Amino acid sequence: MSDWLNRCHWGDCRELMAAWPDASVDACVTDPPYGDTSLEWDRRCDGWMAQVARVLKPAASVWVFGSMRYLATVFAEMEAHGFRYSQDVVWEKQNGTGFHADRFRRVHEHAVMFYRGAWADVYHRPQFTHDAVGKTVRRKTKPTHTRAIASGEASTYVSEDGGPKLATSVIFVPNEHGNAVHPTQKPLGILAPLLRYSVPPGGVVIDPFAGSISTGIAAEMLGMQWAACELNPDCRRMQAERQRQPSLLREAA
Ligand SMILES: C[S@@+](CC[C@H](N)C(=O)[O-])C[C@H]1O[C@@H](n2cnc3c(N)ncnc32)[C@H](O)[C@@H]1O
Repeated sequence: MSDWLNRCHWGDCRELMAAWPDASVDACVTDPPYGDTSLEWDRRCDGWMAQVARVLKPAASVWVFGSMRYLATVFAEMEAHGFRYSQDVVWEKQNGTGFHADRFRRVHEHAVMFYRGAWADVYHRPQFTHDAVGKTVRRKTKPTHTRAIASGEASTYVSEDGGPKLATSVIFVPNEHGNAVHPTQKPLGILAPLLRYSVPPGGVVIDPFAGSISTGIAAEMLGMQWAACELNPDCRRMQAERQRQPSLLREAA
């Protein structure tokens, strides 16, 4: 039964996900409405995590984008469903959406990763950039997160100019102001590293809050399966428009 995959389901995600099979999904990568404004599309949706917890495999992860105000409330709900905090990344943008003239101009958003099960059983593939500076690093103990690039002595690794370097938790990707079809559209460039990290090749990722279907598009480009939900029927037009945008190819590059 896979007719629920690789498409957007229309309606309230809390009802729609109830029809999806148990323990069938590797990860959830989502960008819920944060409830920070009084705008129609920003109305907070409570209780979505219960169905996500059911459809995820026993060892699985959830990435949630959000403002600090929103995420502060998400931690308790994640814990209630047996998920623990793992890490967070900062999406740094070229310009921000400042609501306040008397605060720092905000040019970033957070995505927080939660997981369930033993960490070793949770799919997680470290990401690398290819801009290392040649050097030899000696450490008294071998940090677990360098295992993939360490060789020989456990306490030593040698890097080469232009070689692989563990990707940093601050990821710069220009936002799509001017080209976005959805007011809170996420660029593929910020979704792709999270998907590659948390979803095995051919695996399944879900996004209960699809908007312009960014997660689905990114998953398809990366050879993964996906399922999404969206409440707002206007997003049908946005999704169709987004998939026709020539900028998609630039974003994916
Ligand atoms: C922050 S936006 C997601 C934008 C998306 N990341 C993109 O790149 O286009 C959140 C979306 O969730 C939708 N939404 C809100 N409540 C929902 C619900 N109960 N079920 C499904 N979708 C919902 C909103 O209509 C909105 O399009």
